Amino acid sequence: MTKSVLITGASGGIGMRLAKAMISKGYHVVLHGNQHMEAISDLGGLFPEQITAVAADISTETGISKLSQAAGDCVVVLHCAGIPSAGISWKISAEEFRKVNAINYEAPFFISQQLIPAMRSKGWGRIIFFSSIVAQTGIPGTAAYSASKSALFGLTRTMASELASNGITVNCIAPGYMDEGMIREIPEAMREQIIARTPISKLSDTEGIIKMVELLLSEESNSITGQVLSVNGGLWM
Ligand SMILES: NC(=O)c1ccc[n+]([C@@H]2O[C@H](COP(=O)([O-])OP(=O)(O)OC[C@H]3O[C@@H](n4cnc5c(N)ncnc54)[C@H](OP(=O)(O)O)[C@@H]3O)[C@@H](O)[C@H]2O)c1
Repeated sequence: MTKSVLITGASGGIGMRLAKAMISKGYHVVLHGNQHMEAISDLGGLFPEQITAVAADISTETGISKLSQAAGDCVVVLHCAGIPSAGISWKISAEEFRKVNAINYEAPFFISQQLIPAMRSKGWGRIIFFSSIVAQTGIPGTAAYSASKSALFGLTRTMASELASNGITVNCIAPGYMDEGMIREIPEAMREQIIARTPISKLSDTEGIIKMVELLLSEESNSITGQVLSVNGGLWM
């Protein structure tokens, strides 16, 4: 039977690349976005049988509930939705801190929680969180973002140990500075500094994330669980 894959943040850079890869592998995909649904709609026009499109603001309970209902049969979830945040720790507002945490780790947790019963009943599932190199290193001005992305490490290990006996693996990909997506927010001069510091001397290839996801979705990966898997060009080891 064709497996269904939920990709949150499929309207974003990495999510859209993963969406196209999953479609080419024959999966049915539930593609989620929020404010930018155009690319998802275009893809839906090309592959109407394979795609369900959902717009939902996952910073709200209503949005999480709407998305979870649309994705009820999914046994794979790729949590790509996320927001960046800049702000030095003693200045960042409580509102910003809470918003970043709500979108970056509370929503992935609550969406997973809604999908776990279907995965358990089928005895198979794959949950993949998306953290960041920012959570692995100390970068000034990233308090909210790094806290939200570090929280995913704890969720990964705990949920992996809880779900292992049900055939469900839980892993976390930690991208470095990729050639796709929210890197657009970084000023050119800073991007050049990042490239200069990166051992591979370029932004990291998003294809590496796609291959990592394909591996984690395979049957052969059933022993890979509770791991944080970095794709960062050697910037953090
Ligand atoms: N790209 C990188 O270099 C990099 C590095 C480290 C970690 N990451 C992580 O990898 C993941 C994917 O990154 P990306 O670069 O592809 O990001 P991106 O291009 O900025 O896309 C972000 C996605 O999150 C969605 N989103 C934002 N706020 C939302 C909300 N309130 N409700 C629902 N959806 C919301 C956006 O939807 P709409 O646009 O439709 O509103 C979009 O689909 C993120 O979790 C990011 O933190 C990326």
